[in-house]
Amino acid sequence: MTELLAPSALDRAAMLLRQGELVAFPTETVYGLGGDATSEAAVAAIFAAKERPQFNPLIVHVPDLGMAEKLASFDERARSLARKFWPGPLTLVLKRAPDCPVALLACAGLDTVAMRVPAHPLAQKLLRACRLPLAAPSANRSGHVSPTTSAHVMEELGGRIAALLDGGPCPIGIESTILDLSGEKPVLLRPGGAALEELEKITGPIARMEPGAQEGAQPRAPGMLERHYAPSLPLRLNAAGVAKTEALIAFGPKPLPGAARTLSLSPSGDLQEAASRLFAALRALDNPAFSAIAVMPIPERGLGLAINDRLARAARGR
Ligand code: TXA
Ligand code: MG
Repeated sequence: MTELLAPSALDRAAMLLRQGELVAFPTETVYGLGGDATSEAAVAAIFAAKERPQFNPLIVHVPDLGMAEKLASFDERARSLARKFWPGPLTLVLKRAPDCPVALLACAGLDTVAMRVPAHPLAQKLLRACRLPLAAPSANRSGHVSPTTSAHVMEELGGRIAALLDGGPCPIGIESTILDLSGEKPVLLRPGGAALEELEKITGPIARMEPGAQEGAQPRAPGMLERHYAPSLPLRLNAAGVAKTEALIAFGPKPLPGAARTLSLSPSGDLQEAASRLFAALRALDNPAFSAIAVMPIPERGLGLAINDRLARAARGR
């Protein structure tokens, strides 16, 4: 049985984590499946609960930069980014610190560690109450979309984890931006909640890893397997028309007419609103009653990059 905990039961959640149990918790991006990052057993339990391939490293969550500096090696570039964007939806991949206590399994054997300081008040309180770095992938089973409400988490992981801390819907609704700073040049491993243009104001030009570029080569972000974002229905992107058997994900003031069912990511054309609704829409429309999900074009700017990246993966990855 998975305990559903109200925010007032935060101490219970912290105690369970200290006992090595798994607790899902809200962040400003998506719900995370949290476990003690210093415990290989807890990390292994995370992989088991997610049925995730073990070569897939996890993001380690800490309450502030001070804690992060105990686990990873920061240079000035990393520190300026952290000061500007933390707490917030930016994950930095850095070299592990010499005495880094993070379980090797959490880094999938790499000499790097992905660090994130979430801004959600409940995540912040939980990290401070349990006094542990928390390994937390998105709280979905492997190959499913990331959960943005506690109900999604229950559907995915109910019965598999000790508890779920309910913080309502996640305000950003799309995962953190992942920036690899372990090499000389910064590389964008995953577009997400922090806009690339904003990061580049601090770092200068950031190389983008093209989706699928890692295929065949040693993956830099092994978790970015195509299958990661796959619904079971075919997904048809940049739709200019829609069949009456198809479901439609609309964007902007003029939804295409004639779909079996339509959900709009943002009638006003707001990309942030669209991001926050994306996974819920994919989930809601991934129903065998429809022949496919058609998606209207999403502008390729700001959070639109992350949305299109997710959609492209979902379309390819079935
Ligand atoms: O917004 C988020 O980032 C959410 C919330 C819960 O914080 N977490 C999340 O975690 O999306 P996850 O595990 O679903 O995605 C983590 C990604 C994976 O693609 C993984 O391969 C990559 O981060 N990653 C983790 N550690 C890495 C490392 N050392 N080097 C390269 N990529 C890494
Ligand atoms: Mg995930």
